[in-house]
Amino acid sequence: MERKTLKVLKEERVAVVRLNRPEALNALNSETLIELDDVIEELATDPDVDVIVLTGEGKAFVAGADIGEMRGLTAEEGRKFGILGQKIFRKLELLEKPTIAAINGFALGGGCELAMSCDIRLASEKAKFGQPEVGLGITPGFSGTQRLARLIGVSKAKEWIFTGDVYDANEAARVGLVNKVVHHEALMEEALEMSRKIASKAQLAVRYAKIAINRGIEADIDTGVQIEADLFGLCFATQDQKEGMTAFLEKRKPSFQAK
Ligand code: HXC
Repeated sequence: MERKTLKVLKEERVAVVRLNRPEALNALNSETLIELDDVIEELATDPDVDVIVLTGEGKAFVAGADIGEMRGLTAEEGRKFGILGQKIFRKLELLEKPTIAAINGFALGGGCELAMSCDIRLASEKAKFGQPEVGLGITPGFSGTQRLARLIGVSKAKEWIFTGDVYDANEAARVGLVNKVVHHEALMEEALEMSRKIASKAQLAVRYAKIAINRGIEADIDTGVQIEADLFGLCFATQDQKEGMTAFLEKRKPSFQAK
């Protein structure tokens, strides 16, 4: 389907979703959010797609929620706009397929929050990160107060959010927000290479691992290990487990089936 603010390209079991409002540095307005929601729903059940890469057109990944759209909102409208983004980002986080943010430039405010809702973050050396909302008279509103604290720790998250400072990719990697910093020109190839590697593994096992990590991290350790045990057990009901272990013992490459 043709979309106005996003481009989706599918190739070799990987879908690249490109935020495409470069004239506004890919700022998230309601239209973009709804299109993103729609794409997530579609890719979740697309049997040809194992891994999803999110990136931005032009010099930004996403420079935040759309300030022009937010300026005139009432308290209730602001709350609803926040909840709209929160729900979509949570859906992205819980999507039962791995997601990689390939951060090509500015990832500020809602853009940093979008990147944090992905499983893995690869950053161009040109990428810039931050939660500058307090400089606009608002708090982060697409779950940044929650995910940043979980990813980089409470103290660092408070420093980032209270000062609104912008950080380069190396600093974002140093504090654990970004998995890897790569040369700008190599960003998409790195993201695709990682995607293809993930796509070559047993997809049910990857999916169960994602569920175990996501659900376990929100629970106490005893609940977390129980979730892991259940999903680990379920792996043995799959053909891919038989194939993976047989291939190892027969010294050949496995050929996984399940999607
Ligand atoms: C709307 C935006 C925008 C945004 C940039 N633009 N960011 N429009 N919302 N978040 C627009 C500019 O108005 C401008 O439009 C065009 O994109 C290019 O931007 P410039 O500022 O000219 O580019 P540059 O000088 O390179 O500066 C880049 C920048 C700056 C440092 C990223 O644009 C910037 O500070 N943007 C805002 C970043 C921010 O505060 N983000 C947090 C938003 S709040 P024109 O028409 O003039 O060419 C947020 C809350 C999330 O995200 C939760 C909500 C519930």
